[in-house]
Amino acid sequence: MNTIAVIGCGTMGNGIAQVSLQAGNTTYVYDNNEQSLGKAKLSMLATFDRLIEKGKLTIDLKNQFAKQLHYTSVLSDIAACDLVIEAIVEDVNIKQQLFMQIETLVKPECIIASNTSSLSITSLASCLQNPSRFIGIHFFNPAPVMPLVEIIPGIATDKIILQQTIDLISNWKKLPVTAKDTPGFIVNRIARPFYGEAIRTYEEGIAGFETIDAAMKTIGGFKMGPFELMDMIGNDINFKVTESVWTQMFFDARYRPSLTQKRLFEAGYFGKKTGQGYYNYAANQATDAPSTDNELMQKIFLRILVMLINEAAEALYLKIASRDDIDTAMTKGVNYPKGLLKWADEVGSQKCVQMMDDLFNAYHEERYRCSILLRKMALEGKLFYQ
Ligand code: NAI
Repeated sequence: MNTIAVIGCGTMGNGIAQVSLQAGNTTYVYDNNEQSLGKAKLSMLATFDRLIEKGKLTIDLKNQFAKQLHYTSVLSDIAACDLVIEAIVEDVNIKQQLFMQIETLVKPECIIASNTSSLSITSLASCLQNPSRFIGIHFFNPAPVMPLVEIIPGIATDKIILQQTIDLISNWKKLPVTAKDTPGFIVNRIARPFYGEAIRTYEEGIAGFETIDAAMKTIGGFKMGPFELMDMIGNDINFKVTESVWTQMFFDARYRPSLTQKRLFEAGYFGKKTGQGYYNYAANQATDAPSTDNELMQKIFLRILVMLINEAAEALYLKIASRDDIDTAMTKGVNYPKGLLKWADEVGSQKCVQMMDDLFNAYHEERYRCSILLRKMALEGKLFYQ
């Protein structure tokens, strides 16, 4: 492979183009907005200059990249590509319109891929004459920094196309994991309780944001607490992802969004980017000190962790991904300090099941149903990592 087309030059498209270039490919970046193309090009050149300053790029290599990189608003310029990765607006109809055009331009063996985070790969592929060459290649933001890439074959994707894609992404020095074409794929599905159960804990008055964030960081070793992270991701984006996963899961209670976050979304309290989210980012704005009650902190941490472990076990049970890919996805895609299935072995599946059953008995809500696989492991005294 050596000629790659990236469609869309926004946050993700430009990042993916950088990864492709640094892997030695001739890279075409297409966008239908001339202004965005201009900005993206300047931003890429500035990135190269920063890399040169840091000693991570030579001037010769920068010049070579500049020759291999083409920004264009003419779609037919991508005709010679071996792989097309689409990263435009998250809209199934707009994406399908584009894929139908692309299919008429590129050669028959060209792989056509989408970087979608929430749409079904199978539904996107369905507009093509040949859906067997279509696949999901899901990068994480920022693409040049985050090692994880989820590879998602749709129902019709050819096994050879899947293998070629995995090989290619490995050659780009990224870590590919394979996910079943289900809502949220691996990371955006399994991570839901990190946000949802933290908000629930807050809504019930068990603790404030500062205490919940502190519990996950100091006891759990997470780099950021759930509320800090939601404010960083943006409550607009995080709420939409939650809502999308929940809707696509046919309203399974385990993924139900929270009214607390919906109100923040409605108020425009998106987080850091708007200056107000769960926290206020105005200068010198003091936050409440977290609780010093260690027992409370332990309880909060374990409740959220066990909900995450339960979700990971259920994903394994439903063959969304392999054990190793599930653990790699959470450590390399969202920087969890440990793989959740590894963590399950350390906490003990019996303890996890007991906690899930206690929650279920207390609330009588489907949200707290224990994964059948976790229960099986506990009953049989088995470990995920034998
Ligand atoms: P963005 O809004 O930063 O960029 C989208 C770009 O697509 C814009 O430059 C726009 O001009 C262009 N565009 C829109 N419609 C077009 C069309 N019909 N033809 C050509 N160009 C068109 O969006 P972002 O954040 O880069 O997201 C792109 C895709 O990547 C989405 O599918 C999103 O779900 C996915 N994604 C986003 C992540 C993130 O953290 N932002 C992470 C992983 C995936």
